[in-house]
Amino acid sequence: MKEQTIAYLLREELKDIFHAEQQLVKALPKAIQAAATSDLKKGLELHLEETKEQVERLKECFAILNTSARGKACAAMEGLVHECQELISDYDRSYVRDAGLISKCQRIEHYEIATYSSLFLFAQELELDRVADLLEATLNEEIQANKNLATLLEGGILYSGISQKALAEC
Ligand SMILES: [Fe+2]
Repeated sequence: MKEQTIAYLLREELKDIFHAEQQLVKALPKAIQAAATSDLKKGLELHLEETKEQVERLKECFAILNTSARGKACAAMEGLVHECQELISDYDRSYVRDAGLISKCQRIEHYEIATYSSLFLFAQELELDRVADLLEATLNEEIQANKNLATLLEGGILYSGISQKALAEC
């Protein structure tokens, strides 16, 4: 029988997002390589560095909670990453594939935002101040990453004239 406490739930959900972040560290380089426009490439490169830092923050959370990071696979992120890989192989390199990549990456960010929002509240409820601070720092990065992706779409990737110019720059 599993423990029926918020403390147990927090530890289990941290394992889930830890596995999710580790999958992203492996998957993002493929998305970076696939990106046709230099702005998307740069945005994803920045987020890869942030994601590595987020993994380190989660390790600190596990150390504080005296918990092993192992033992849980994030099936949701496996599915999201798989969809992203499918898109990369289904489309040729173009601004259209970039628009699709942004859409897939925004779904990943939304999953992460939802996860970190609730885990931050669990940590606050348990008065785990340092854990809450670490989760909030990552949450803010995910929110900003999602905004940056949305700005790329709104800012021109969908408009082929602008995108052809950006393609020519890479
Ligand atoms: Fe993340």
